[in-house]
This record gives sequence, structure tokens and C-alpha cells, in this order.
Amino acid sequence: MTPPRKLHIKSYGCQMNVYDAQRMVDTLQPEGFVETASAEDADLVILNTCHIREKASEKVYSELGRLRLAKDEAARGGRTMRIAVAGCVAQAEGEEIVARAPVVDIVVGPQSYHHLPDLLKRAGGGERAIATEFPADDKFGYLAKPKPETIRARGVSAFVTVQEGCDKFCTFCVVPYTRGSEMSRPVGRIVDEIRDLTENGVREITLIGQNVNAYHGEGPDGRSWTLGRLLYRLAEIPGLARIRYSTSHPNDVDDSLIAAHRDLPALMPFIHLPVQSGSDRILAAMNRKHRAIDYHKVIDRFRAARQDIAFSSDFIVGFPGETEEDFRATLALVAQIGYAAAYSFKYSPRPGTPAAEIRETVSLSEMDARLERLQALIDSQQSAFNKAAIGTVVDVLFERPARNPGQIVGRTAYLQPAHVMASPDIIGQVLPIRIDSLERYSLLGELASPAAPQNTQAAASPVIIGA
Ligand code: 5AD
Ligand code: SF4
Repeated sequence: MTPPRKLHIKSYGCQMNVYDAQRMVDTLQPEGFVETASAEDADLVILNTCHIREKASEKVYSELGRLRLAKDEAARGGRTMRIAVAGCVAQAEGEEIVARAPVVDIVVGPQSYHHLPDLLKRAGGGERAIATEFPADDKFGYLAKPKPETIRARGVSAFVTVQEGCDKFCTFCVVPYTRGSEMSRPVGRIVDEIRDLTENGVREITLIGQNVNAYHGEGPDGRSWTLGRLLYRLAEIPGLARIRYSTSHPNDVDDSLIAAHRDLPALMPFIHLPVQSGSDRILAAMNRKHRAIDYHKVIDRFRAARQDIAFSSDFIVGFPGETEEDFRATLALVAQIGYAAAYSFKYSPRPGTPAAEIRETVSLSEMDARLERLQALIDSQQSAFNKAAIGTVVDVLFERPARNPGQIVGRTAYLQPAHVMASPDIIGQVLPIRIDSLERYSLLGELASPAAPQNTQAAASPVIIGA
């Protein structure tokens, strides 16, 4: 028997890449690959890249420099190490990578991962193999069916792709170019995948897509289903305790999604809803097609449907032409909404996007200063949100043993990590936890009712726990 070949995947960027990495593992397993934690002893190293900001894509080239040494070292030991660049940098800069980095054997875009075995064979024949086409018919062809062992290795919480690509064309963003136009997976395929996952111990799923609430997959009735309708169907799957979805666009929040939040206890009351800026002038220049007031109205509709709902968001500071007044409008929006968490970034011009052509720019020092001011405000909101949990009882889905011996870590509805001293038996269960204290971003507490934990959970959620 030939010994297994070793595969190392390093992922950058968004959840979609984390998910895709798992799919690449699933695709390469039948080829005799097993995962290894170290790039140095791998036979195949895949850099699963992100192109969203300049910093993210430059990382690839510095990593390739390091890998060149490892590849040379392997060759001296008589071993062939192959190097592949996957993800959005591969999609956007395929030819350039091949020209700039002779160390690379394979360049593979996000819609071509099912071709990896074939690309490897071609690389074995001495070719430098590139696959970056967008398939016209089945964008989800790369979604090989995972084996139960792989699913179990994923643990309690898993991502499921329901939609890919984006047609919004925000002027700063590369996603419509790297991930292509919007496409949704059919309902039946999603339901089957989630059923497989729950039968193998997964209790929480996060539906992912670049623009997940633009979902319009074909339902079993042959009609186009909205995300809201899909969520009602998924909530019926036995054993599924929690459902999340990310990332959403404020313009695609329809009434079925709001109703799902009102009606489905398994749908977590925590929504990532990027707004990018609080200034109408900048929102228009970004081609967001909504104003600050429209965003506020969307937030109000969610809040009216479910009182305990909380939000996170993405912000860009220093978009070309952003004045102090525009920036203050962003601070004002944050102050008005009150976020549980948020990400903020300095604007990074991306080649090929319309905003990269705008001549007016904001100086780097001004961008730094604005980022600091915005992050200070967001941090204070996040700490206040976390502190408010102290002294309350919250449901936690337990995921794995923590670093501290005897502790088990899980997450609250709002994705706050929560630690308790308990038996590993609680992994996979949603249990009420009395929160005692906060350590940085982590909540510490104890089981609220160890004698009858399952009952309390059942009251909070209609799904069957521990099935
Ligand atoms: N510069 C800075 N931030 C960006 N993002 C997307 N493109 C850029 C860019 N060119 C941010 C947006 C988006 C998040 C995923 O990354 O805030 O919501
Ligand atoms: Fe990019 Fe999101 Fe805008 Fe689509 S909606 S172009 S993914 S920022």
C-alpha cells in the first residue's frame, strides 16, 4: 500500500475560505491525502487566499517566499513538494502568480476545486496548471459530498454554503469579480447536506454566502425560495439546535426573513449586517444603493420582530473623498445603533474596482486616526454588551475542551465564548449558564441547573437536543 500523501492548507480571509478548505480536504481524501499541521513535511501545500484588501493579498507572496525554501529543502531530501494557490487571489491574479512565483505548481480558483485531482496529475507531468474559469452551469460542482468521518472532525458547528457570488458591485469591492455573479444552491441539496451533518453530531450551522440574504434557490416545488423560507424548512430538521447566516446586505432584508426571526427560536438573534459608512454621500459613492436612514429602518424591523436581537457590522474608513463630516456620520450611526461587535478596515484600493480610479484620497495618517476613533467606540460598545451578560443566565452551545484543564468552552447566541468547569459530556448540548465574570472577550460561568439541564434547553428551543 502506498503511504498517505500529506496535505497542508493555509486559509486566509472569510468563512467561505474556511469552508472551502474543508471541501478541498474532502476532494483530496480519495486521492490518498491526509492533513498535516506543518507545511514543511507536506507533499501538497495549498494557500487558500483572500483578495479583499491589499494586505491580505500581499501575504500570499511573502508566504510563497517561505515555501520556496521548504520546497528546496524537500527536494534535497528526495521528496517532491507541490504548491498550489487557491482562493480569490488565484482567481484574480492567476497568470501574474505564475509569472511572479516560479515555486507555484497549481493555481486554482474557488469554482474549480473539484478539478484539484486532475490539476495535480497535470502538475505531476511537469505542467504548471491553472484553473480559474467560472463554470456556466454548476457553480457548486466543487461541493463534493463529505464522508461521515470528515463531518465528525468538524465538531459541533459547521458552515454550509447556500449562495455564492455577488451582483451588487460596491465600488470598493473585488468580490463580484473574484467570486462571480450570484447563484443559489437548490433547497433540496442544502437540506440533505444539513441532515447529514446533524446525523453526525453537528448542532449548529451557519449558512454562508457573499450575499446570503439574496438567496433565491429552487425549492422542491420548483419555485424560487427566499432565505426566510429556507430557514423555516431548516428549522424542522431534527437535532439542529442553532441556525445562523452570514453575510447579509441591508437591501435584501425581506419580510420572510424578519418573520423567521420572529417565529424560529433556533434562528440566533445575532445578525452581521454590514453598512460600511454612515454618510449618505459616501454610501452613494460606494454604490451601496441605500442611505443611512434605510439601514436604520432595517434594524428597526428586526428589533420589532425580536427584542433580544443584536447586530455586528463592517465599516470602511478613508474611502476616497471621505471628509471629517462624513466620518462623524459613521460615528453617529454606530452610536445610534449600538453594536455587539463590528469590524472596521482602512480603505484599500483594489485594482480593477471603480473606487481605485478616484483621485481624491484620504491620507494614511488620517485613516489611521479615524480607524482608531471608530474602533474605540466599537470596543466600548462591545465591552458594554459583554458586561451586560454578567449576572444573567444564558444558553451556551458547548463545542470543545478549553485550553485550561477541566474547562469546556462554548458560545452564546451572540457568539461570545463562554467557559465553564464541567464534564466533556456537555459538548454538543445547549445548556443554561449563569455568567459570573468576564475575562477579556470571554464569559466565565457555571451550569445554571446541572440536575435538569435538558429541560431548560427544550423550553428555549423547539428542536430535539441530544438526538
Ligand atoms: N478596502 C477596505 N475594506 C474592504 N472591504 C471590502 N473591500 C474593501 C476594500 N477595498 C471590507 C468591507 C466588507 C468586508 C468583508 O471587507 O467592509 O464588508
Ligand atoms: Fe462586496 Fe458585499 Fe458589496 Fe457584494 S455587497 S460588492 S460582497 S461589499
